[in-house]
Amino acid sequence: LGLKKEVNVLCLGLDNSGKTTIINRLKPSNAQTQDIVPTIGFSIEKFKTSSLSFTVFDMSGQGRYRNLWEHYYKEGQAIIFVIDSADKLRMVVAKEELDTLINHPDVKHRRVPILFFANKMDVRDSLSSVKVSQLLCLENIKDKPWHICATNALNGEGLQEGVEWLQDQIK
Ligand code: GTP
Ligand code: MG
Repeated sequence: LGLKKEVNVLCLGLDNSGKTTIINRLKPSNAQTQDIVPTIGFSIEKFKTSSLSFTVFDMSGQGRYRNLWEHYYKEGQAIIFVIDSADKLRMVVAKEELDTLINHPDVKHRRVPILFFANKMDVRDSLSSVKVSQLLCLENIKDKPWHICATNALNGEGLQEGVEWLQDQIK
């Protein structure tokens, strides 16, 4: 009774895309923090949904820390990949990191669900989730379930839809 299935999730994406802000938003309001700073290395966070208890590896997206990501791929039962929809210049870098991720031996042949958050939808001139999906060539991912949502981590818009999709993939 009250026992929820434990799931490990990796939260990946470039620096400044909003990973830590998103994870913070998914926690109960009394556990949320006001001041979010760039992640150093990674941080382990927890949040719950109706049926699951998530442990999130909130990885730093800074270039110098991205080589840490692959050490956790084996642990991840799902991936949340966050994109800054307003950062058009670095969309190609996000695509490179995504391609490296999905071709890694610890990810490539596993049916690990990937939830994409096209974040910062509130920023003027940000790209739509459809456009982000095209630029990242998501339709080429055929061996894993994936889903993309436009989100605004500042007010939480879109986050619930994504997490519900993730929950349905796992339970
Ligand atoms: P690293 O830890 O360096 O990899 O960055 P991160 O991906 O964890 O980004 P973080 O959550 O620290 O957010 C970076 C900045 O983007 C912060 O100033 C956030 O307030 C801001 N931010 C996050 N989400 C949104 C959003 O949806 N809209 C807007 N306008 N700003 C956002
Ligand atoms: Mg962070």
